Amino acid sequence: MSKKPYYITTPIYYPSAKLHIGNTYTTVAADAVARFKRLTGYDVMFLTGSDEHGQKIQRIAEEKGVTPKAYVDEIVEGIKELWNIMDVKYDKFIRTTDEYHMDSVKAIFKKLYDQGDIYKSSYEGLYCTPCESFWTETQAVDGKCPDCGRPVEKAKEESYFFKMSKYADKLIEYIETHPEFIQPESRKNEMLNNFLKPGLQDLCISRTSFDWGVPVEFDPGHVVYVWIDALSNYITALGAFNNEENLMEKYWPADVHLIGKDILRFHTIYWPIMLMALDLPLPKQVFGHGWLMLEGGKMSKSKGNIVDPVMLVNHFGVDAVRYYLLHEIPFGADGIFSNEIFIKKTNSDLANDLGNLVSRTVTMIDKYFDGHIPAPVIKEAVDDELITLALKTPKLVEEAIDDLRIPQALDHIWALIRRTNKFIDETEPWVLGKDEEKKDRLATVLYNLAEALRFTSVLVSAFLPKTSERINEQLNVDLTTWDSLASFDGTQAGTKVNKTGVIFPRIDVEKKLEELNKIAEEQRLVAQVAQEAVEEVQEMTPIKEEITIDDFEKIDLRVVKVLECEPIKKAKKLLKLKVDLGGEVRQVVSGIACHYKPEELVGKYVVLVANLKPVTLRGELSQGMILAASTNDDSKLFLADPGKLPTGSVVR
Ligand code: ME8
Ligand code: MG
Repeated sequence: MSKKPYYITTPIYYPSAKLHIGNTYTTVAADAVARFKRLTGYDVMFLTGSDEHGQKIQRIAEEKGVTPKAYVDEIVEGIKELWNIMDVKYDKFIRTTDEYHMDSVKAIFKKLYDQGDIYKSSYEGLYCTPCESFWTETQAVDGKCPDCGRPVEKAKEESYFFKMSKYADKLIEYIETHPEFIQPESRKNEMLNNFLKPGLQDLCISRTSFDWGVPVEFDPGHVVYVWIDALSNYITALGAFNNEENLMEKYWPADVHLIGKDILRFHTIYWPIMLMALDLPLPKQVFGHGWLMLEGGKMSKSKGNIVDPVMLVNHFGVDAVRYYLLHEIPFGADGIFSNEIFIKKTNSDLANDLGNLVSRTVTMIDKYFDGHIPAPVIKEAVDDELITLALKTPKLVEEAIDDLRIPQALDHIWALIRRTNKFIDETEPWVLGKDEEKKDRLATVLYNLAEALRFTSVLVSAFLPKTSERINEQLNVDLTTWDSLASFDGTQAGTKVNKTGVIFPRIDVEKKLEELNKIAEEQRLVAQVAQEAVEEVQEMTPIKEEITIDDFEKIDLRVVKVLECEPIKKAKKLLKLKVDLGGEVRQVVSGIACHYKPEELVGKYVVLVANLKPVTLRGELSQGMILAASTNDDSKLFLADPGKLPTGSVVR
């Protein structure tokens, strides 16, 4: 019988910064579900990847003096290494710079254009000239560029647009008749009431102001902008609109797109509409999980309060981190990360409940049966309770995973673990062990413990793969299939156990917390220094050749007041000023248009080099030069400020 396909995806990540525990969460959760589906007999396709185009990446690469491709190549290696460390076993990693993906994006763009869903118009936004970037009203902070802090201006850029509104009614109907499509439920109403029902804006899908993107083939100068490139990864990875192996038949529509709530709108509105326009079925479910927060609020790189998953893995092992992520964050709601809760949970659930159980069981088999798991002989009523729970747990776990209730799935497994610990307290094997006549009963107790641990090992394998391996190693388990959990007799009597040490050593809470707090403080300082460096440091321009005071005296610097100011047509950087020099009015051309608006300058007092030989710039006479301080790259500039001294005053 051929296996049922199951297709699960994570977002594709921006390689703009180091991934933190928040991004790690989505991928670990998707991995747990994918592993569970493989275990329970599905043919799984688990897709993750990286979203590598865009102006921001281009700019970071420029700043680093490398090509965008070289820059993303390096970061993507790091992302893959992180998934490796986190034991994330994906089936495919898609990069939006992969040739096959870019081929598809071009084809999709063309198809949508040919069938009339895309039209050319112009994009109006707030433009920051020095940064060459557009911002929306909400992105701009008090009318200033969120990147550089300088004023932005309304501007237009030629762009292609997607006619979203054309499909809105069809989508509303789809969402209303498919309650499982947007999960959790509360997010569905948010999408309907806040976005769809008030009316959809057409979506800007191309740009001309940068070129690090998929080119629009029929209109050079345009690159595809963000969402058509990013969202289509879910189908291009399956060979849609390209020459890769065609897996669409098998895996599309996806069973679930697992994403963070911040990108839910793109996945439940733009993506379905794109698919409708391409005449493809919609994904069965889009699940928007909450954010992983710190006690002090959201994680942010510039605050230096991001939690580095690799650091945690180095301190506590990968499964402690996986367990925390999968268990402590209510799926769908925001969760909190705190070192203290993390350490305490690791101690109680992993070291005490599970680790101890394995150690005690193996130690007793070692002590009483020379390391060989005994065959069960004398059964008692108390055994039934344990066995019944063990036999019903797999179904409970499966139901929870089918609803993506991962913490509940773990709760069911831990109920079995705790019941097994209770079984030890009830049966008191150390008492049985003192009495040779009770040896048969002791054999049954230890067999049941070994078998309960075999169940536990299979059940946790999707969530904590390494822990499962360690249990299998110690108990020499070889029957690890899901189907073997249908009966409580899969352990081979006579199997030799291996006492290889504790799986989860107990953590000294105080000591470890102190260590982690020290790391956090260091990290905060590093971030602070880096932030200051961004603000202050530039390469020192060499000091010019020495001059005498007489040389300096030759320069006549004067305080002047700006009377009029206007831009110069076709010279983006230049302004034409009329300044008062104390009775005399001069015209000056100054290259400060990227930094000051004409109306900001009128009335301002500035310093003029008054005896500079006049020149003509762009057809305009310039009688002198205005003093300004600027960074080497001219990204920041301030006019020298003489206060409000009478015009004509000498500066020296
Ligand atoms: O959005 N807690 O990429 P991205 C939980 N390239 N999840 C978090 C989080 C946190 N603290 N911080 C971030 C993008 N995330 C696009 C996706 S998909 C076609 C394109 C989640 O790298 C966030 O919600 O900025 C998102 O789901 C994911 O990390 C990737 O974010
Ligand atoms: Mg984001």
